[in-house]
Amino acid sequence: MILVAGSANLDHVIRVPELPKPGETLLATSYETAPGGKGANQAVAAARAGGTVSFLGAVGQDVAGDVLLAALAGNGVQTDLIERVPGPSGQAFISVSQDGENYIAVVAGANDQVRPDRALSLAGVDSVVLQLEIPLPAVTAVAAAAQAQDVKVILNAAPAQVLPAALLECTDVLVVNQHELATVSGLDAAPEEAARALLPRGPSVVVVTLGASGCLAVTPDETIRQAAFKVTPVDTTGAGDTFTGVLATRLSEGNGLAEALRAATAAAAISCTRPTAQGGMPARDEIEQLLAASA
Ligand code: RIB
Repeated sequence: MILVAGSANLDHVIRVPELPKPGETLLATSYETAPGGKGANQAVAAARAGGTVSFLGAVGQDVAGDVLLAALAGNGVQTDLIERVPGPSGQAFISVSQDGENYIAVVAGANDQVRPDRALSLAGVDSVVLQLEIPLPAVTAVAAAAQAQDVKVILNAAPAQVLPAALLECTDVLVVNQHELATVSGLDAAPEEAARALLPRGPSVVVVTLGASGCLAVTPDETIRQAAFKVTPVDTTGAGDTFTGVLATRLSEGNGLAEALRAATAAAAISCTRPTAQGGMPARDEIEQLLAASA
């Protein structure tokens, strides 16, 4: 089983012709709400890809909390480790441009009330998936519990933050985009060089997502490059979450790294072709179809 510990947000999504410049007022062409949050998104992506998934997090005692719980449960994600806490659920305000690019601002709400628990029991869990939208001490505590129980830790260091050494030391697979890589490594270097510099600090695999250029992964022994699958993007929100969730499912099934990266890259491409974060995430057979079509 995969345990995803992280955030759940209600996304407020507007479509705009282009992302606004500072001081500019734009007329949006649509508004909708949708379940999101990097943690919940990764849990849903992993479950749709065929994983058995449980989610650890917090939502508020509001209507948004009901929506977020229902979305997770509706995708087959186990919700018994989600606390309902006083106050509002997490909310994200997202502008999506015509070419699918986005701007996101998050109000943490209930996500800020996820507490550290180093005594967390991980019986039956083979991998833990983490991101950085819940407090860093809670992320570090779950990672430490996983390391102590020989459970693989996959950390998506998003949104970008400088990481405590203790968290990197517990991480087996680090997933970052180029901006996050620069923040975490502290280096202004080419992706492969910056990723390789992180290996002695803990992870045995560093994966760098490169948008339209696909991704690369470095290990002590090799560098793997995976090209992107060509699609016309409608909404890139949640593409990174889809990538991480599907990568977790494929690795937990015992796939090799190159094979898992290919499936994750295909899933991320599909996710960009449909609106909203979870709205675009593919089912397992869709991923298989794209992989077969481009074999
Ligand atoms: O990665 C996309 C997600 O970031 C959105 O769903 C939003 O809630 C923010 O957490």
